[in-house]
Amino acid sequence: MIKGRWWTVCLTLFVLVNGLGVGGQSESHSVSLDARQRRIALRMSPLPPAPPSPTNAVADDPRAQQLGRELFFDRGLSANGTVACSTCHDPSKAFGDGRPVAEGLGLMDRHTPSLLNVAHHRWFFWDGRADSLWAQALEPLEEPKEMGSNRVAVARHVYTRPRLRAQYEALFGPLPNLDDPKRFPTAARPWPESPQHEQHRAWLQLSEADRAASNRVFVNIGKSLEAYQRQLVSADAPFDRFVAGLRDHDLTKLAAMSPAAVRGYQLFVGKAQCRTCHFGPNFTDREFHNTRVPPRKTDVAGGEGAGSRPDPGRHRGIRRLKRSPFTATSEYSDERDGAGRQKLATLVNAARLWGSFKTPSLRNVSRTAPYMHQGQFRTLRDVVEFYNTLEGATAVDHHAETVLVPLRMSDAEVDDLVEFLQALDGAPVSDLLGDPNSAK
Ligand code: HEC
Ligand code: HEC
Repeated sequence: MIKGRWWTVCLTLFVLVNGLGVGGQSESHSVSLDARQRRIALRMSPLPPAPPSPTNAVADDPRAQQLGRELFFDRGLSANGTVACSTCHDPSKAFGDGRPVAEGLGLMDRHTPSLLNVAHHRWFFWDGRADSLWAQALEPLEEPKEMGSNRVAVARHVYTRPRLRAQYEALFGPLPNLDDPKRFPTAARPWPESPQHEQHRAWLQLSEADRAASNRVFVNIGKSLEAYQRQLVSADAPFDRFVAGLRDHDLTKLAAMSPAAVRGYQLFVGKAQCRTCHFGPNFTDREFHNTRVPPRKTDVAGGEGAGSRPDPGRHRGIRRLKRSPFTATSEYSDERDGAGRQKLATLVNAARLWGSFKTPSLRNVSRTAPYMHQGQFRTLRDVVEFYNTLEGATAVDHHAETVLVPLRMSDAEVDDLVEFLQALDGAPVSDLLGDPNSAK
């Protein structure tokens, strides 16, 4: 009781202090959090360490972090030496690319997600078709529109660079003799969707043992990339300082969020119902929803590329995950019988998942425009306006969930909510995690 009253007093005081600070104008109304709003806030901060990744034995090994960092910035891993992971996941753009849809060797159908705090996710890709960060990393290496390489060439890249090879072998043991042209062709990968492709045919020519060895190297490269990415953490946003202020009864910390942002927080957990899906310290339920965002209007002549076909989202993601040779229960996993197995076992596909996408984290969101799986919205205000009016929302059939309703917020409320989202920007990651070549 006494504590509760202390809070109202404190927050009112803080608003007054804050309001007077801005060029002498005082705020006309006070903001005070009720017990529920306070309880929820305390659960949304701080961001704890990422959950462990038991299917990857080197997930937190400093040597794997270092190798992963080198590989992340290495354009030599792409088919023509022009594209690295960092081409699309650029450290100066919060590990995104700032484009509506990604462009590597070709134009892709989806928007590049930021990798900040990525290790907190449960599923990877917008449709969750990978169940671990290491399995995720294998796809862009071989995807023709991204880096367009193949697992034998990727392994040979490491094999022929003494520095990379030494780092790799210190961690994982000796590489196979990739110099032997009788054993390993220039380029080979399994490509079941294109069985006539020469790389698929070359793959079938490899001995079973060499196919297994190539897969093993490929997976170890993925595991090193995971170890690097697990370090891409950005917390300590104004919101976190504000919550620390609630916890420590510290007025200076409470002042980290403006009164408008505090009002935005109240809308976020109240009337605007954002918390239905964006909850917990990473502001996501780690699941998939159909938010009825209209597909991107294609501005590419000829209509090819992004937005020209409806995207089945999670529905196809689950089908692809079930076919993947690189899951938590596969022979490449370092813990085949743990939580990862349960996660997969409880996975059920359903019609309602058609067109649903992963709930993104909202941490650092003001640095990751444009928004949504195809970069449909240019600004945070556009996103909030969409939730507010649902104008242009796609029609959904009776299978789809119907959580979203127009919120009918005033312009001022929309402003407040945007201001709150801007208070979720964390500290930038250390330069020590940047491009190792430019750092020298
Ligand atoms: C051509 C641009 C491009 C390149 C190169 C690229 N990515 Fe991505 N990345 C994307 C796009 C686009 C997505 C989302 C694709 C989807 O969901 O279907 C993505 C998704 C991801 C995700 C999932 C994030 C999440 O929240 O689910 C991770 C992790 C990731 N990439 C890491 C990497 C790594 C590691 C590399 C290098 C091996 C890499 N990316 C190379 C564009 C790129
Ligand atoms: C029904 C669950 C749900 C609710 C409720 C919800 N969101 Fe989302 N949100 C999502 C999903 C799913 C996406 C990704 C959709 C896509 O890409 O098509 C998303 C995307 C976003 C994005 C874009 C992030 C990015 O990196 O692209 C922002 C910003 C956002 N939501 C803010 C909000 C706010 C503010 C509210 C409350 C007004 C809200 N959300 C309510 C599920 C939800």
